[in-house]
Amino acid sequence: MSALTATPSSGLRGSIAVPGDKSISHRALILGALAVGESRIDGLLEGEDVLATAGALRAYGARIEASGDGGWRVHGVGVGGLLAPRDILDLGNSGTGVRLLLGLAASHPIRSLFTGDASLRGRPMQRVITPLSEMGARFDAAEGGRLPLTVTGPEIVMPIEYRTPVASAQVKSAVLLAGLNAPGRTTVIEQQATRDHTERMLRQFGAEIETGIDDDGAHRVTLTGQPELSPCHVVVPGDPSSAAFPVVAALLTPGSRLTVTGVLRNPLRFALFDTLIEMGARIALTNERQAGGETLVDLEVESSALHGIEVPAARAPAMIDEYPVLAVAAAYADGETVMHGLAELRVKESDRLAATAAGLRQLGVPVQEFPDGLTVQGGAARPRQPAGETIATHMDHRIAMAFLICGLAADGPVRIDDGAMIATSFPGFVALMRGIGAEVTAEDQTA
Ligand code: S3P
Repeated sequence: MSALTATPSSGLRGSIAVPGDKSISHRALILGALAVGESRIDGLLEGEDVLATAGALRAYGARIEASGDGGWRVHGVGVGGLLAPRDILDLGNSGTGVRLLLGLAASHPIRSLFTGDASLRGRPMQRVITPLSEMGARFDAAEGGRLPLTVTGPEIVMPIEYRTPVASAQVKSAVLLAGLNAPGRTTVIEQQATRDHTERMLRQFGAEIETGIDDDGAHRVTLTGQPELSPCHVVVPGDPSSAAFPVVAALLTPGSRLTVTGVLRNPLRFALFDTLIEMGARIALTNERQAGGETLVDLEVESSALHGIEVPAARAPAMIDEYPVLAVAAAYADGETVMHGLAELRVKESDRLAATAAGLRQLGVPVQEFPDGLTVQGGAARPRQPAGETIATHMDHRIAMAFLICGLAADGPVRIDDGAMIATSFPGFVALMRGIGAEVTAEDQTA
């Protein structure tokens, strides 16, 4: 455990770039590993989650190496070319890593054994086991469809049409990645659109992908299987889910003026910033540009007085990872913020709905937790942590970062029990925050 404490700070200033997007980084490695030849990745997130995916892909026969100039090189094995791994694949804390790789594993006639840390072993895998079983894979999972599990793919993968029962880009991606090695067309239909990085990148690597909207408004993606994927040069944009933390910190701490450069501006990832602007945040989007099939912007942020709003359920998929830090912003906003459609938060790295509500309550913020929603009563008094108490982060990087941000504007310091998980998605977070003037201290100086 490496406890961290954030102390009230002001005047966060500077221009920073956040690490590469986690979702795009996983997918760049995976598609690079399935292409024939050498792909190059610049701006890869070198966080533990992505490095765990790289490790698993090496076990399947791909060659993945840092090229020494900040870039990465991936030599792929070709679609259908994965080798049987000789050892257990441990994906650490990474739900994206394991669910996307299950799509690959399930579409090859080899046996793979997956596990992860205590948080990942508690997360539901049935949501990918169900469609991948329809495609012909056999699973032997721990109780409740959890890790550790073994999967063996069939000789010939069945292309399917699958309607996802929950809004999940990981489920959509697992099915599409399995469909790569199926003869024929694999279709995923989702009622609410989720992040589309897999579709965009498959197209970039040369796969045939059609997207459209059905008469009932559902989103349909169809992939033609068994393409030859051509190697690509992927430039990974800054992760909006990581940018969320310094942006909210600058909004909440007085006298701040911060620029975060090169942030991914994909509409299916950007709803936090639209929501904050609706709450009165002064965030200017500047220098819009295109790179690697995605739009990037710089975010220019100034301290702002926020007001509470109602955040509709329809917005949830486009900001699913951002609710803990939005709830923190809501604690400082004038009035009530009501957030709907949050059931999926219960099955993230922790039960994020419960962890967020419990943390805010500990700091004296009135909250109401519903099965799929959260109400935060902001503005009455600044959050304050009673002496001797600590926020429980439950092995969840985003709970850890959200409550450190909360501490930067609180009435006294806020201590969290463990900052170790931050390295899964945002290596260098503490140093970057200190660099713009935030006071964050570690008790264990080796942390
Ligand atoms: C991700 C999808 C989301 C998100 C996760 C990354 C992805 O999960 O929470 O951090 O890269 O596909 P779900 O698919 O479970 O919603």
